[in-house]
Amino acid sequence: MLINYQNVNAGPIKDGREVSKYRYLMDFDSEKLIKEYHDVIIIGSGIAGVFTALEISQEYDVAILTKETLDISNSVLAQGGIAVSLDKKDSPELHFKDTLYAGAGLCDEESVWVLVNEAASNIDRLCNFGVNFDKTKQQELALTREAAHSMNRIIHAGDTTGKEVCDKLISVVKTRNNIKICERTFVIDLVTKDGACKGVLVCDENGDAKKFLVSDIVVCATGGFGQLFSSTTNPEVATGDGISMAYRAGAELMDLEFVQFHPTVLYHPQNKSFLISEAVRGEGALLKNAEGKRFMPEYHPLNELAPRDVVSRAIFEEMKRTRTSNVFLDISFKDKDYLEARFPNIYKTCLGYGIDITKDMIPVAPAEHYCMGGIKADVNGKTNINGFFTCGECACNGIHGANRLASNSLLEGLVFGRLIGEQADRLLKNSRVSREPLNLVYKTNRNDARVDSNLVRTDIQKEMTREVGIIRNREGLLRALNKVNSHGKMLEDSKSKRLEDFELQNILLLSRLVIESALEREESRGAHYRSDFSKTDDENWKRHIIKSGKIPNFVGT
Ligand code: SIN
Repeated sequence: MLINYQNVNAGPIKDGREVSKYRYLMDFDSEKLIKEYHDVIIIGSGIAGVFTALEISQEYDVAILTKETLDISNSVLAQGGIAVSLDKKDSPELHFKDTLYAGAGLCDEESVWVLVNEAASNIDRLCNFGVNFDKTKQQELALTREAAHSMNRIIHAGDTTGKEVCDKLISVVKTRNNIKICERTFVIDLVTKDGACKGVLVCDENGDAKKFLVSDIVVCATGGFGQLFSSTTNPEVATGDGISMAYRAGAELMDLEFVQFHPTVLYHPQNKSFLISEAVRGEGALLKNAEGKRFMPEYHPLNELAPRDVVSRAIFEEMKRTRTSNVFLDISFKDKDYLEARFPNIYKTCLGYGIDITKDMIPVAPAEHYCMGGIKADVNGKTNINGFFTCGECACNGIHGANRLASNSLLEGLVFGRLIGEQADRLLKNSRVSREPLNLVYKTNRNDARVDSNLVRTDIQKEMTREVGIIRNREGLLRALNKVNSHGKMLEDSKSKRLEDFELQNILLLSRLVIESALEREESRGAHYRSDFSKTDDENWKRHIIKSGKIPNFVGT
């Protein structure tokens, strides 16, 4: 079969070579693989990955692996900004309160305290790395408002904050001699031995040139899984590889059912993934339905700045009621010069599609934007696998609970990336990467695939969008589960080893886990809304759903 799940839990083999006791996308034999040793391996080149790398002392050898190029990540696309309580009337306590309110009862308070208390010092570090945020006339950082924030506390760089931050951090990374950048390097699987991380198996963009990168410290910062859905603000690369790989290696995953749909994504025949930042609503934009009527006041006292899940569901209801595929965002009443200066990217991009935001309403619809769940981590980014850390969107350390507060995500990557960097330093002080021989069995499947990965991927995405989207119910979730399982059965017989097949396996595995978690949670909370269980049920469900890494088995489920 395509992915060699048959060889799971292999024990020591007869000739005395030791086989790592877990399941992989492929088995591998390190004797036949080029081995490369690093003190720390970081997977992912978004803000969490590169910031972690920069926080590790320069005496240690660090490798950043990315399956595309360094500059392609979800972080780069982030428009709005970074939340930090800098206003005189603001405080970490208020930021804490807003985060908990959005998180709908499932935030981890200890982690949120760390986030809000460490925010300002990490922003200072960004400024020292040369990041240019917008400033007021008094040369203070300019603050705007986003949904569910009780204060103006979002710092920004126009409407391309992620790009400004990532460009600057990447330029610093490139000057560091201790950091090796490995682009177009796809991580197939995490290698573990006796519950500890030993490195990763990688291949190139064609699925060839496999290598065993050995390290006792691996940081997973691979981002989210927007590509489980057909409409998403995430880039093509967001196939949830890190989260799936962690699960296969025995890591615990948490809160997978909580998927955030951003309310305002451009809805144009040629582009349905371009974000119209919440900051546009923060600056006063109004949502109007197909009849030209403003509707948010009927849904929530905070109107257009209600929590994201509320706004997305309201839009969904309005689209259903008016039998249309989009609503409109109207900021045309603002001054033209102001709009061009404050939202240059949105202004230019929309104009490219014939929409002049200074005159026209912008057609928008909700699309998948962020997964609150991921690899379960403690307040230090540690997982249940020794030496395996995680931060950023693929991590679930309880910051976001059931619904992420806007502009807390870049911040999370910074705060927890830095903490992980500091721990890596401490661990490496005691022992550098061990060069003990590791003999792992690897078998290559040479047969051609009998399935078209792209077709299956598209089919899964459509099903996930239809049945596992903004509003869910048991029947729909079961339909989606059946579809995922039947694709899994088909793939069982195919024997390919191309990169898109690995990605498809990751998409299939995660889709199944998201659906199972959504089925299990028989209530509505935060971003998870069940039309058949529309109330929040604290008595039974004020708790996390954890999926422990076990043998993925599409067959017969
Ligand atoms: C946005 O600009 O609306 C996105 C900000 C975020 O997702 O935190």
